[in-house]
Amino acid sequence: MKSISLIQFLIEEKRAGHINSELSLLIEVVARACKRISVAVAKGALGGVLGNAGTDNIQGEAQKKLDVISNEILLEANAWGGHLAACASEEMDDPQPIPDAYPKGHHLLLFDPLDGSSNIDVNVSVGTIFSVLRCPDDIDEVLAEHFLQKGTEQVAAGYVVYGPSTLLVLTFGHGVHEFTLDREHGSFVLSRRGMTIPAQTSEFAVNMANQRHWEAPMQRYIGELQAGSTGPRGRDFNMRWVASMVADVHRIVTRGGVFIYPLDARIREQGGKLRLMYEANPMAFIVEQAGGAATTGRERIMGLQPTGLHQRVPVFLGSKDEIDVVTRYHLESDDSRA
Ligand code: AHG
Ligand code: MN
Ligand code: MN
Repeated sequence: MKSISLIQFLIEEKRAGHINSELSLLIEVVARACKRISVAVAKGALGGVLGNAGTDNIQGEAQKKLDVISNEILLEANAWGGHLAACASEEMDDPQPIPDAYPKGHHLLLFDPLDGSSNIDVNVSVGTIFSVLRCPDDIDEVLAEHFLQKGTEQVAAGYVVYGPSTLLVLTFGHGVHEFTLDREHGSFVLSRRGMTIPAQTSEFAVNMANQRHWEAPMQRYIGELQAGSTGPRGRDFNMRWVASMVADVHRIVTRGGVFIYPLDARIREQGGKLRLMYEANPMAFIVEQAGGAATTGRERIMGLQPTGLHQRVPVFLGSKDEIDVVTRYHLESDDSRA
């Protein structure tokens, strides 16, 4: 069978009217940057890229060298093509405008340059997550407020997993497609078209070490999964937790499951752990496009009106039937307390 490169796929999407030339170029550029990140990640200790950078990001998290390197690669690659109005990143306090020397485009790019930083130094899969929005027309200067659009406004989202293979998973709102990096030829090649998440699953992903801090409906749901065939669910469940959202979500997009990073008492003030604009929204878009669901435990993630660039939210995503159950448990618990 003849293989289809990412470039060919983008041309076909353009012909189908799903994307315009600027968005096609944007995806090409992001894919090219991610190839460079993949090379940097793979060098490991030999490239001197492991360990801490010695700085903190706006969220007070210690930055790894690869967080900083990946951020720089994405910024540099996206500066000059004329396809963007500005970028925003988990690793930068404020949005980065396109330098004056270059033409400006009509899109906004948001990214988590390196997801799963705690796994870098132990040689476990990490990734990049990105989201694309339209820049509002008729503005002189792009400000943080212009990025604060609902997830439903995304025109593209994707992630790259730097694992045994480097994979790009992409959606434009017309299904979810996977590309595998062919290292010999240096190009991404379509490996799965129209990925779907089964509605039912027997696999969940959550950091169980936080259990004692969770809310009651979350305790109820996971308690029932753990009780397995001896509890109300009447069947056994399996658990997986990579601690790289990209890897956990990729497993779910591949074979089903649920991924949960809930509210807990220690992070209630900050709203959750994962970032709405760089992690939750793009992953929610991909998961919904694959037939799954994505909520905060109470409402659809993509329906949230963002209030800050670095806002955090609880995340429940994956196989639809399970997300419906755990979301119902939260709403029932809220009703009974009202
Ligand atoms: P990041 O490395 O971009 O800060 O994201 C890490 C996130 C996510 O990838 C993962 O699911 C989660 O944090 C892991 O959290 P715990 O370390 O609490 O398990
Ligand atoms: Mn992340
Ligand atoms: Mn990150």
